[in-house]
Amino acid sequence: MCSFTKAIHVSLAITFLISVSLTNIVHGFDAKAVIDSPLLTQKIGTNRTIKVDLNGNGEFKSVQAAIDSVPEGNSQWIIIHLRKGVFREKVHIPPNKPYIFLRGNGRGRTHIVWSQSSSDNVESATFKVESPHFIAFGISFKNEAPTGVAYTSQNQSVAAFVAADKVAFYHCAFYSTHNTLFDYKGRHYYDNCYIQGSVDFIFGRARSQYHSCEIFVISDKRLAIHGSITAHNRENPTDNSGFVFVKGKVYGTDDVYLGRAKGPYSRTIFAKTYLSRTIVPQGWTNWSSGANSSENLFQAEFKTHGPGADTEYRAPWSKQLTEEEVDPFMSIDFIDGTEWLPVWL
Ligand SMILES: *[C@@H]1O[C@H](CO)[C@@H](O)[C@H](O)[C@H]1NC(C)=O
Ligand SMILES: *[C@@H]1O[C@H](CO)[C@@H](O)[C@H](O)[C@H]1NC(C)=O
Ligand SMILES: *[C@@H]1O[C@H](CO)[C@@H](O)[C@H](O)[C@H]1NC(C)=O
Ligand SMILES: *[C@@H]1O[C@H](CO)[C@@H](O)[C@H](O)[C@H]1NC(C)=O
Repeated sequence: MCSFTKAIHVSLAITFLISVSLTNIVHGFDAKAVIDSPLLTQKIGTNRTIKVDLNGNGEFKSVQAAIDSVPEGNSQWIIIHLRKGVFREKVHIPPNKPYIFLRGNGRGRTHIVWSQSSSDNVESATFKVESPHFIAFGISFKNEAPTGVAYTSQNQSVAAFVAADKVAFYHCAFYSTHNTLFDYKGRHYYDNCYIQGSVDFIFGRARSQYHSCEIFVISDKRLAIHGSITAHNRENPTDNSGFVFVKGKVYGTDDVYLGRAKGPYSRTIFAKTYLSRTIVPQGWTNWSSGANSSENLFQAEFKTHGPGADTEYRAPWSKQLTEEEVDPFMSIDFIDGTEWLPVWL
């Protein structure tokens, strides 16, 4: 190649690179960048770190003891670093301890595990967060109770109860069978998380965006009916909650619905998500909406793909959204992310 054409190729390549990188910059943050723990640590701008180590090489051996040491009304970010290991304890972030960053060594290395089933979801939860401005990175949250026996009091086993505003999880995992992730209330962001379960395993009435998450469906042979990935609860049209899944994939070992509408205005969207054959052809169910009609349900898909995304037998009231209709849900503006997510500040 002569040097002239080479020069043209190089300059074309540079122009291309510049235009690609410009389109990826959203609110000063490269949307394609992986949000990892050094980036989060840099963004929250603190070095205040409490180390928790099972072998005694930290300030504490228990996660809860470290949280207990944070003063009430804490107003500056504090890092609680969990070294690798299995922390066998229930963990509770109470309502008056904001600005905690629970940082693990990766979801395959740092685990918080308990085993409890109950008729009460909150009671059963391994991990509970009730304080705003909480972030977690690289931790597995697990409730390893044997699958609760349906129609008895021991039927719920929650891995995490998320009951505060402005909460984000990055590269975390949630394991249980029934009711794994109780996404109760507030604005939440889940980035690159792994969520496993069989029945209603993402439920509640939060306003949440799940970005590039992996959803793994396990089987529950006790039930004659199909389980459901989500059970979003929305009772009226002014409620701004909703579960939005952007990108990511759904797969596993049993058949489920994408959602069972809970409440007459239930709102769940799967956008640009890969759906394996684990999704039943109807896609969605209305049996728990409590309404006489399905006209106010918002159970929707946008450009889902894969063998579970065929629309031919979809519930007639479910929606396939247009680009314009899905727009308000696709960016982190749906959860006002630019106002509180550390990476975008
Ligand atoms: C954290 O510590 C590093 C190394 O000591 C230092 O360079 C950096 O400025 C510190 N950051 C903050 C926010 O204090
Ligand atoms: C779960 O337990 C509660 C309390 O005993 C009961 O009311 C409910 O019907 C049970 N649900 C299932 C699905 O077993
Ligand atoms: C459903 O319809 C029945 C009979 O028309 C009525 O009595 C009932 O109140 C309706 N329920 C709701 C939730 O609208
Ligand atoms: C629920 O959906 C089915 C079809 O998927 C429909 O036949 C039925 O009328 C719906 N029920 C209500 C209460 O909207």
